[in-house]
Amino acid sequence: MNSPTGFLSENIWILTRYDHISSVLINKKFGRGNRFGKGKITANYAKLNSLTQMRQHWVNFLDPPEHTRIRSFINKVFSPKMVNELKPGIDSIVTYLMDRINGNEAEFISEFSYPLAAITIAEFYGIPKEDRDILDKWAMQIVKTLDVVTNQFTQDDLKNIYRCADEIKDYFRKQVEEKERNPKDDMISRLLTIENNGDRLTKEEIIASLVLMIMDAHEAPKNMISNGLYALLKNPEQFEKLKNDPSLTEGAVDELLRYDSPAQFTGRRTHEDETVGGKEIKKGLQIICMLGAGNRDPLKFSEPDRLDIERKNVIPLSFGGGIHFCAGAGFAKLEALSAFENIAKNFPDIKLKDKEYHFHDSLHSRGLESLEVYLK
Ligand code: HEM
Repeated sequence: MNSPTGFLSENIWILTRYDHISSVLINKKFGRGNRFGKGKITANYAKLNSLTQMRQHWVNFLDPPEHTRIRSFINKVFSPKMVNELKPGIDSIVTYLMDRINGNEAEFISEFSYPLAAITIAEFYGIPKEDRDILDKWAMQIVKTLDVVTNQFTQDDLKNIYRCADEIKDYFRKQVEEKERNPKDDMISRLLTIENNGDRLTKEEIIASLVLMIMDAHEAPKNMISNGLYALLKNPEQFEKLKNDPSLTEGAVDELLRYDSPAQFTGRRTHEDETVGGKEIKKGLQIICMLGAGNRDPLKFSEPDRLDIERKNVIPLSFGGGIHFCAGAGFAKLEALSAFENIAKNFPDIKLKDKEYHFHDSLHSRGLESLEVYLK
């Protein structure tokens, strides 16, 4: 493709420029235009499988007004105040995981990034952290269905996905019922009690939202930390700067998200004809916004392929934008902040092992298969 805005197929447009993507994400002429129901429970609901039932309520598939309604409840549990109060808890999970790493070397994803992401969200939800592996197993199956552009499923894949959807839905139903009987100071209990102008989320909506967020909270934060550390270790002069000046960590997190985005694209559909980058996109067509490409757009960032943790005014596209802007962005950035601050402090001599590193074979989610390091 020679143009930054072009067709992927007859019905799909693809955008790669930072400015085109950010303008589409905030433009009301573009929405989700999904076919997975309207966030309402209809007469046929009971006949649907668990996955299709949950998809009726997933905010990422909804347009206003259904999106606005469910998203306003989610925003309340991710208010900046509530998220900031999590910092000491996240710091203590980071310290616990670092203390467990013994010896001179580590596989950083299984020993650090994955358990950090999984334990943090489990604590926030108020569910047992020992359930993290089974939740991850279920989430990893169901998350594949979000990648609507590239995934092709066999009958066996589908059977497995539907089974996992039944199991995770059942798991969260039990958790929600337990919190109804025995509320605590956690996110599930809060979702059960939050009222918005006399409106409340139904139990089905809460369960579906919990499943959506457990998927988001496992894969992307794990990749954010692993991709970020990999980038820093490949650019040791940048890691050196971070070690010498911890006040650079916040800017470094944005730059690392820009440099190697854990989420590579998001999608929209045109509600009305609209012109983007000088090209007319007809109503009803699908748009793929290539977030990772926009983050490396030379019209937006000078020398975009260079990692520079002191780069100014970096607003990465990695969390999307507009009304669908990632609900967990503040939460995820706190995890990254704590992780990078503590890696720089506790493992100042960390180095990549000299071997080939591979990324998982997925167009949407970008993450390393393994990250092997020397610690001393
Ligand atoms: C580094 C970590 C993460 C990345 C890169 C990421 C990225 C994204 C992206 C690209 C979107 C789509 C935005 C759009 O279409 O404009 C999204 C949506 C969403 N994310 Fe995240 N995410 C991350 C972590 C999380 C976490 C930890 C949670 C929750 C605990 C979360 C919850 C959500 C939800 C609920 C949505 C749907 C929002 C809506 O449609 O209104 N994400 N995220």
